[in-house]
Amino acid sequence: MKIGNRTGVRRGVEVHDFDPATATVDDLATLRRHIYHDKIVVFKEQTLDVRGFVAFGSEFGKPVAYYEPMYRHPDSDFVFVSSNIDRASSRVGVPKTGAFWHSDYQFMPEPFAVTCFYPQQLPTVGRGTYFIDMAKAYQRLAPDLRAAIENTHSLHSSRRYVKIRPSDVFRPLGEVIAEVERKTPPQRWPTVLVHPVTGERVLYVCEAFTYAIQDAAGGALPDSLLTDLLAASGQLDQSFEHDNIFVQSYEPGDLVLWDNRTLIHRALHNPGNEATESFRVTVLDEHPLTSKEAA
Ligand SMILES: [Fe+2]
Repeated sequence: MKIGNRTGVRRGVEVHDFDPATATVDDLATLRRHIYHDKIVVFKEQTLDVRGFVAFGSEFGKPVAYYEPMYRHPDSDFVFVSSNIDRASSRVGVPKTGAFWHSDYQFMPEPFAVTCFYPQQLPTVGRGTYFIDMAKAYQRLAPDLRAAIENTHSLHSSRRYVKIRPSDVFRPLGEVIAEVERKTPPQRWPTVLVHPVTGERVLYVCEAFTYAIQDAAGGALPDSLLTDLLAASGQLDQSFEHDNIFVQSYEPGDLVLWDNRTLIHRALHNPGNEATESFRVTVLDEHPLTSKEAA
């Protein structure tokens, strides 16, 4: 196994010659450290099948099956499929997923610690992922904005981005919305997480899921506070040129792991409809989402 730093606009570290079958306990401990401290680890030239990919993810935490079955791979509930490929037999996965700023499962009781992303078929151009490091975004907030969110909580819901399922056709929209609220009720998290491994403070709001901020007593704070945080962190920049934004592009064989507490992401899809398919395994680690102790 060889680990190298990435340079220029490329963030994180790059790993060559990694074979999960022969990795040592020390190798895995080193890689875990890199995930939490460097945020992105790109494993090159990987050739795993579905079962191998789940086993790979299991080395970094406990895989979780996505709650909506339509995203799951037919051979493993733990593999989430983003795909626009038309298959004669039946559809596998969901097309054009995640094209909005978010952290995976931020709207759930147990958000994932690490996301493992493994493109299977790439278009000729334009498939990548935009990222923002929300620990850096927190450090860069103006002092008054940082003070305004001290001891506050934020509310998160999937309601604006839940995808209509084939089985929802002909159902009244109100009934579908009521089901979304019942299955995925809003979650309340501190607006600033303390990362349980690195101790960094992380601004924990995203454009897709966060819809309100509350003061320490649970009182509603003005909507403009959330808008200011989204703008300052770069999430409202439609040009994607904000200093906080960086893009990860993919080469065949890349398997990318990232720290889902610290990084928010947004899929960059090919503007046309070229065939593209990606697998994802998401895992929980042994730590809580946020440490109670300030760094
Ligand atoms: Fe995602």
